[in-house]
Amino acid sequence: MHNNRVIVKVPASTANLGPGFDSLGMALSLYAWIEMSVSDSTVIELYGDQMNGLPRDKTNLLYKVAQLVFEEAGVQVPELRIGMYSDIPLTRGLGSSASAIVGALTAANALIGSPLGSDRLFQIATSLEGHPDNVGASLFGGIIVAAWDGERADYVKIEPHEQLETLVAVPAFQLATEQARHALPKQIAMADAVYNVGRSSLLVAALASGQLDLIGCAMRDRLHQPYRAALIPGMTAILSEAADHGALGAALSGAGPTLITFVHKDSTRKDELESFLLGTLRAEGIEAETLWLAPCSSGPQVAVLEEHPSDTAISLMDWIEGEA
Ligand code: HSE
Repeated sequence: MHNNRVIVKVPASTANLGPGFDSLGMALSLYAWIEMSVSDSTVIELYGDQMNGLPRDKTNLLYKVAQLVFEEAGVQVPELRIGMYSDIPLTRGLGSSASAIVGALTAANALIGSPLGSDRLFQIATSLEGHPDNVGASLFGGIIVAAWDGERADYVKIEPHEQLETLVAVPAFQLATEQARHALPKQIAMADAVYNVGRSSLLVAALASGQLDLIGCAMRDRLHQPYRAALIPGMTAILSEAADHGALGAALSGAGPTLITFVHKDSTRKDELESFLLGTLRAEGIEAETLWLAPCSSGPQVAVLEEHPSDTAISLMDWIEGEA
């Protein structure tokens, strides 16, 4: 028995949090919406300027991901109506591809009565994405500590501290994850590995125990950020000076180019921090947009609509507007 129509709201994410390369992630209060229903012929509607150029046939990622779920569940749903709208900027280090994967997996699973558990979805999402940090955060919400050996991914979720907020600076240029991974060395020195094990462990313990004052020191990294610095002018200054302008800590968000700062909700220096981020990037000739984002403590929200998508059904955009 298939559900008629599902709409899934899935959060964005920031990965690495500095030292936790490919292993730490946190969901953020910025969202994508994906709708899915069984159809006579496949129709893919992508709303918003960001979606320009993405395929609208069966080569679309959302369609292919949905078919993986059906295959695994042993059912056949070859024709789908899919819609997507996203507030998550593409290719900027805020997990847009992970949210699309998690949204499509969740929607396809809900469409057929949710035969696959969340652990199974996590395994599929991780192998599609190639690392568990963004997909784990989008799928489970909160802060995710994850490890993947190429076959199985395991994770623990930490509830974000209620006073934790983030300010992100999203530069006006795109940076492909592949390119940012290409900048990394094949081997690193033992001393740098030890440095990161210490910081990453300290960061997890600080986040789990609510010791926000340790975040600044714990967010430092020697595995990836120094090698990616050349791709993001202004990054090095922001990472080393954000704390002097009111941030608890700062990191490259995922593979960049977005920079993320962690801030105490009650900070009185929010304007100062925002000016510092924008000013530092502008001095390098980079325009950016800043967003204040709270951690998002839950994964996808699923709505099952007992209606047939027709002219009388509510459109995805009206649904999203209704939520706001
Ligand atoms: N951990 C990944 C990276 C996140 O830093 O390359 C990017 O999606």
